[in-house]
Amino acid sequence: MCGIIGFSGNVRAQDVLLDGLQRLEYRGYDSAGIAYFKETGKISIRKTAGKVRDLRAICDDNEATCGIGHTRWATHGGVTNRNAHPHKCGDVALIHNGIIENYHELVSEYGLEDRLISDTDTEVAAALLDKFYDGEDAIGAIKAIVPLLRGSFAFCILFKNHPGEIYAIRNVSPLVAAKCKEGTFIASDLTAFIEYGREYFIVPEYAILTMTDTEITMQDMDGKAIEPEMTEVSWDVTAAQKDGYPTYMLKEINEQPDAIARTITPRISGGLPNLSDDGIPDSFFEGCRDITIIACGSAMHAGMVGKSLIQEMLEVPVTVAIASEFRYEPPVITDESIVIAVSQSGETIDTLEALRLAKKKTKKTLSIVNVKGSSIARESDYVLYTHAGPEIAVASTKAYSVQMASFYLLACKLALVQKKISEDDAKKFMENLQNVSDSISAVIAQSDKIEQLTKRMLNANNTFFIGRGLDYTLSMEGALKLKEISYIHAEAYAAGELKHGTIALISEGVPVIALATQGHVYSKVISNIREVKARGAYVILLSMDEKITDRAICDTHISLPKVDDRFAVFSAVTVLQIIAYYASVGKGLDPDQPRNLAKSVTVE
Ligand code: F6R
Repeated sequence: MCGIIGFSGNVRAQDVLLDGLQRLEYRGYDSAGIAYFKETGKISIRKTAGKVRDLRAICDDNEATCGIGHTRWATHGGVTNRNAHPHKCGDVALIHNGIIENYHELVSEYGLEDRLISDTDTEVAAALLDKFYDGEDAIGAIKAIVPLLRGSFAFCILFKNHPGEIYAIRNVSPLVAAKCKEGTFIASDLTAFIEYGREYFIVPEYAILTMTDTEITMQDMDGKAIEPEMTEVSWDVTAAQKDGYPTYMLKEINEQPDAIARTITPRISGGLPNLSDDGIPDSFFEGCRDITIIACGSAMHAGMVGKSLIQEMLEVPVTVAIASEFRYEPPVITDESIVIAVSQSGETIDTLEALRLAKKKTKKTLSIVNVKGSSIARESDYVLYTHAGPEIAVASTKAYSVQMASFYLLACKLALVQKKISEDDAKKFMENLQNVSDSISAVIAQSDKIEQLTKRMLNANNTFFIGRGLDYTLSMEGALKLKEISYIHAEAYAAGELKHGTIALISEGVPVIALATQGHVYSKVISNIREVKARGAYVILLSMDEKITDRAICDTHISLPKVDDRFAVFSAVTVLQIIAYYASVGKGLDPDQPRNLAKSVTVE
């Protein structure tokens, strides 16, 4: 949600900022802007509603070497030039990621009305800062206003009279920083400056950063110096590029076999799951009576797969809670409960707050997170990092698959520790898990055929995804994927539930994507499919049968590789991702940046 970058150094800031913003654009892409110090020491601003390419078009040539840049996902105030960041108030220019919840109160309390020209909460912070800034003491002004703010924020600030310097502070919203030979960098995430260096640090909350062209110093709110904890990035710049693919999403779908292998292979020893390198002791899995999974969106759908699996293997109740709901209901967990938070970004505010709530009840929290050092990873008792590499497309694909794979690892580990599975069976289970990469590749090889069948869906107003058991959990993910990038309405339904109302919506030609990979309910699903087919639906069936030509069952059949039923989710969801992808491309849309959305939802 909103991308931030700051740079002070010995090369042209505008190039660094615009290229960085291009990479951060997935965090928000409705407006963009930069601010920089001119040679005169004055602060200059360029900003516009639209994409980073629109911003590029209005930037002039300038040799400034210090500046800040922002790409916006609107929260307060419409998508207009005026509301784009940076916001300049008097002697201060500022960019912001987050929400200042008490901005209305601040306006009246500090008489800021006359200073404001936009509708944003951010400009209030800029105005407040300017009010407290005496033209000299930048840090003093920051210290004065931060305690007044309620909400989440990551700020990068330029102060007049401090040319060449960037000040920054954050609460909840992420910031990382680095010093390289070209200068000093700060950004919402590493993708913005990965090409300049591999060493970086996560900016601690409430640390005040001062960046010059050669140095970054930090102090806490009491003025005590803070040393950065340096860490090294585990992927290189190509991982954050399209690498010959037309879109990030297609690249990321194709990366799934490798991403899964990277996530599970180092965690298998002697054929069995081994989480000792992650520092997760077996005692964590002992004596657990119930498990709660908290997450949002696709991560929550991965959790539903985890629930089905763990419940079956462990015979303990597993609840999947939508993080934003969990936060406002009394949590039904005890100190013996395991709570698993799932998040690609590790910054989703609802999941983070749900985790914080859960931690008040249990010390057994574990997170499944992709971004190293992110807030959710740092705040949970244990972390299982997924190794998907950077996921740039807004719609999650490879991160979802590695989250599922992580649940398979955890389910097997739990079942072993709790003696619900023999070592031999656990080895077979892990072997099956290692083979899922091949089954995904086999499906990707059928992409052309899948692309063809999406043509049938492009003019549909409604589509349905149906299945039972694990297939139902995948239906939810398939429907979400289709909705978010193709804007075709899609609804997921447990196949047996359709006849209790929703079947009324099935009429001639309505596309129904049916999943039938689960042997124990296969014949039941086929009966449900016949029911919709009989009412005119256009059925696309995914199953592990070699061929189905019976037109009373389906119009098109996609044959999935034959695997143990429990492992069919990996190839099946890949088909659903490819369907959504080509539906989006077929409608002339940009699957990487769907309207109204942004990656990493750091607002509630
Ligand atoms: C959908 C999608 C979102 C995310 C959700 C959680 O394709 O990507 O639904 O899964 O916003 O994000 P993370 O995993 O970063 O917590």
